[in-house]
Amino acid sequence: MNPAGPELGDAFGMQLSDSLRLQRPVVAYVERSDGLITPSGSAQWLGDEESWPPAIRELLGNASGRVLDIGAGGGRHSAFLAGRSCDVTVLDNSPLALGICRERGIQECVLGDIGKSADLFRDSEPFRTVLLLGNNVGLLGSAAHGTEILRQLHDVTAEDALILAEGRRPVAVTEENHAYVTANRARGRLPGELLMRIRYRTTATSWFPYLFCDPSELALIAQPAGWEISDVEDFRYPGSPPAAPLLSYTAVLRKSGRPGTDAQSAG
Ligand SMILES: C[S@@+](CC[C@H](N)C(=O)[O-])C[C@H]1O[C@@H](n2cnc3c(N)ncnc32)[C@H](O)[C@@H]1O
Repeated sequence: MNPAGPELGDAFGMQLSDSLRLQRPVVAYVERSDGLITPSGSAQWLGDEESWPPAIRELLGNASGRVLDIGAGGGRHSAFLAGRSCDVTVLDNSPLALGICRERGIQECVLGDIGKSADLFRDSEPFRTVLLLGNNVGLLGSAAHGTEILRQLHDVTAEDALILAEGRRPVAVTEENHAYVTANRARGRLPGELLMRIRYRTTATSWFPYLFCDPSELALIAQPAGWEISDVEDFRYPGSPPAAPLLSYTAVLRKSGRPGTDAQSAG
């Protein structure tokens, strides 16, 4: 028995590895800082392109050249693009997820944090495409952290680079979410800023910041970092009830100027 609670570790990578080893979906839990726990199945992270929403396949049609897949997980998008002549590098802070990417044949696998992108890739050839898929706009974490991450991505990408992004709007319909969003607003945070961790069996990741934001909030985060948002497309995941609110969206970010200079004065 471990009265100290879950062990700190690579809970997300363990979930993916177990699912592949057992050849069946397994469930992890997303725990939010207020104690709310939500189940999260592995199938959504391991399905091939047939199971993806059309909006994601369409977005990936914009990818070309040297690609950086940030928070690549099991590498489903990277493997797809590598099969279409892109030169793919994956970045993830989960060692087990990177192991799965390697087994899928992706050779450039970098263990690290999205917040260290400039240090990690400053000396490498600039990327033409950056992926923030599987709702990885969430990894921007907050307005300030998000702008800093996008500034770093500006540094390590080509002039005509695109960020192919998937985001999700915050929801405040349940009592718990309404309370969380209200507390964020009271502290001057964006409504959809979360602190959360992933739990799988007796293991938990560290707590990390995560962001649900709408496209207009993403535009405000991106603008001082020298990116502008376009081609926003709302979509639902297959299997969602038709009456469910349209929360997910894809977007393309293009360079609009240099961070903090042309971009800011343009606003
Ligand atoms: C929701 S999953 C999405 C995986 C993949 N993009 C997909 O759609 O299948 C998020 C991924 O981001 C990784 N991740 C979380 N925080 C990160 C960070 N700070 N830096 C780099 N990767 C991170 C996780 O390990 C996980 O693989």
